[in-house]
Amino acid sequence: MAKLWGGRFSKDTNALVDAFNASIEYDQRLYHEDIRGSIAHTHMLAKTGIISESDAEKIVKGLTSILDDIEKGTFEFKTELEDIHMNVEAALTERIGDAGARLHTARSRNDQVALDMHMYMKRVVTEVMDLVIRFEEALLMVADKNQDTLMPGYTHLQRAQPITFCHHLLAYFNMFLRDFRRLEGVWKGADIMPLGAGAVAGTTLPIDRFQVAEELNFDAVYGNSMDAVSDRDYLLEFLSAASILMMHLSRLSEEICLWSSTEFGFIDLDDAFATGSSMMPQKKNPDISELVRGKTGRTYGHLMALLTTLKGLPLAYNKDLQEDKEGFFDAVDTVKFSLTVFRDMLLTMTVNKDRMAEAVHKDYSNATDLADYLVKKGLPFRKAHKVVGEAVAYGIKHRKYLVELTLDEYKQFSPLFEKDLLEALRPENCVAARTSYGGPAPKENAKQLTLGRSLVDGQKKTLHELVTKR
Ligand code: ARG
Repeated sequence: MAKLWGGRFSKDTNALVDAFNASIEYDQRLYHEDIRGSIAHTHMLAKTGIISESDAEKIVKGLTSILDDIEKGTFEFKTELEDIHMNVEAALTERIGDAGARLHTARSRNDQVALDMHMYMKRVVTEVMDLVIRFEEALLMVADKNQDTLMPGYTHLQRAQPITFCHHLLAYFNMFLRDFRRLEGVWKGADIMPLGAGAVAGTTLPIDRFQVAEELNFDAVYGNSMDAVSDRDYLLEFLSAASILMMHLSRLSEEICLWSSTEFGFIDLDDAFATGSSMMPQKKNPDISELVRGKTGRTYGHLMALLTTLKGLPLAYNKDLQEDKEGFFDAVDTVKFSLTVFRDMLLTMTVNKDRMAEAVHKDYSNATDLADYLVKKGLPFRKAHKVVGEAVAYGIKHRKYLVELTLDEYKQFSPLFEKDLLEALRPENCVAARTSYGGPAPKENAKQLTLGRSLVDGQKKTLHELVTKR
């Protein structure tokens, strides 16, 4: 097949080279942006008098019919035509003749692919932001239902101090608030229009890049043609935001795996969100969390791959840059799928409140509260720490928890202990007393839940504004 760039060649391309060079298999997902970008380019070419109005009309009509065919699934993508840009352009010329051959005036595939990718980014990043909001809402919902659900807070994976399940989930909620902010930054990084940079050095034709930017809702235009065609920072920004987001999901995944184990027994996954073993009939496995944890590694891989692709590239466009797509597309799909399925898993899991409470009651995680009790009676904290440490050692030796020691037993460690110590030791009281700002007291968490809901409302407004500008 004749190539669109075939003029200076005297031989057909080797079939292996065609296959190796082609990106159509994966960049066809840019078809909508490619055609919308070409239509804006056409409008600009006509307005500046570079092509005639009647040619422009034919081009727009032709492009629209191609868009329809692609959406109907009747368009045939050809590997020999390498990528989405040449597949669309060749079809256009086939359909409308010479006018079609005028579309690529004052444009190169280098700035064209950059435009497509910026537009695609602006679309998918808002889709991910929407899923982040839904995920946050799910966290708030489960947190809300568990405001009084006691559980141990862990450090070093050892029971540390009593908290509530609500407090634990709100920690994750805060991570996703930051993810949203990072994604908003990704949008801003992509909201700059590269078309008109040409292959590397702009054009001698009297184009109007700002008109294209306006039609396509871009806030800014690249101020350097070489930067415009070789910049992939906005992809790195997405991959890095996606990696951090996946890391958050992965940490929660790890906890889901632990909590659903028999050893913890804190939660039960819904049967629809777990899988069995082909050999061991009793098994119920938390595959979703494990897969999300696994896919996090793969997402980091895409970030590393692109950083590595870029690090040695001389300006401006090099074909290496075609390698920016598969990893990025895969990261988009991975983050979207993970957020969606994980959310449903969270909303359907059963929280075993009794098991969680048992882990707090049959434990020494109220030891710090006992030390605080002595501090309130005037003992310096270091001394109080030592006294309680001795009481804990005594308890372990005599197989008694702190609530089970008698007042007489306590008196041997300090005369400051009095009857009221039992109240101070009850886990629900320990938690209720932790009213410091951001602490786990249900009263404090109730405030944080309200604040969280209003922050999510703000995010919805932000997202709405971005969606109207994409
Ligand atoms: N498919 C190419 C890519 O994604 C488009 C740009 C090709 N430009 C070129 N001069 N070969 O990078």
